[in-house]
Amino acid sequence: MKICKTIDDMRAASRAARHVGKRFGFAPTMGALHEGHLSLVRAAKAKCDVVAVSIFVNPLQFGPNEDLAKYPRTFEHDVELLEKEGVDILFAPSPEEMYPAGAVTYVNVEGLSDKLCGKSRPGHFRGVTTVVAKLFHIVQPSFAFFGQKDAAQTAIIRRMVRDLNLPVEIVVCPIVREPDGLAMSSRNAYLSPLERKSALVLHASLKQISAEFDQGKREAAALIAAGKKAFAQEPAVRLDYLEIVHPDTLEPMHQLVGPSLVAVAAFVGNTRLIDNIMLR
Ligand code: PAF
Repeated sequence: MKICKTIDDMRAASRAARHVGKRFGFAPTMGALHEGHLSLVRAAKAKCDVVAVSIFVNPLQFGPNEDLAKYPRTFEHDVELLEKEGVDILFAPSPEEMYPAGAVTYVNVEGLSDKLCGKSRPGHFRGVTTVVAKLFHIVQPSFAFFGQKDAAQTAIIRRMVRDLNLPVEIVVCPIVREPDGLAMSSRNAYLSPLERKSALVLHASLKQISAEFDQGKREAAALIAAGKKAFAQEPAVRLDYLEIVHPDTLEPMHQLVGPSLVAVAAFVGNTRLIDNIMLR
């Protein structure tokens, strides 16, 4: 695996990868890789001839009181995992390489970026879309792979790609869960054994909503109330939001007609976790 630390190196590797008709896939990550990330890599390997992954803990998407400094960094182990998966190129720039002093240009997907996590993490999605737009320009993939776990992120990135005519196809891969249902996340590493148990309430509430949907319930307020009941039994977990929204516009739905995204975020101790399901 070729490791590129500079933008120039990455551009050169990308030029070689795109050489005549090669399908070039890319999975952007912040490292601390788990099976969820590896599922993106495997999807990219299945669809593409050459696969690049980036590891960059993007300071722009962390708020002033968030976990940038303590975000898990496991670079050596990540490199081993990516090598095992047969990844061709790893882009691992420094913050100074990505954001030279005086950088003041941002990409913002207006409207969508202040919904769901954007409401409780102001500026978060602007940080995500800015770095992803930069990564797309540097790496120049034909396909980019994202996880459905960050459902709002994928909707916002799909909109950015459409609005800015970026020549990349977005592929969204299903959520990977632990055997007991907890959605895989690098932030699960923060959880104490007790918190790890309480964290199951996110998935439990989504399953409750899904069961009531299957029984014919279509009113969003009633479904949300059913999901909130699960949280009432887990006082150690503080619900941030539980919403049912249109998967493209992220606008709240009232009556469920067509595909609907049920998205949840909650604090388990100091750790903020997210999860979601699609109801069809
Ligand atoms: O999903 C993530 O890990 C990050 O938001 C991303 C897409 C790599 C941008 O920093």
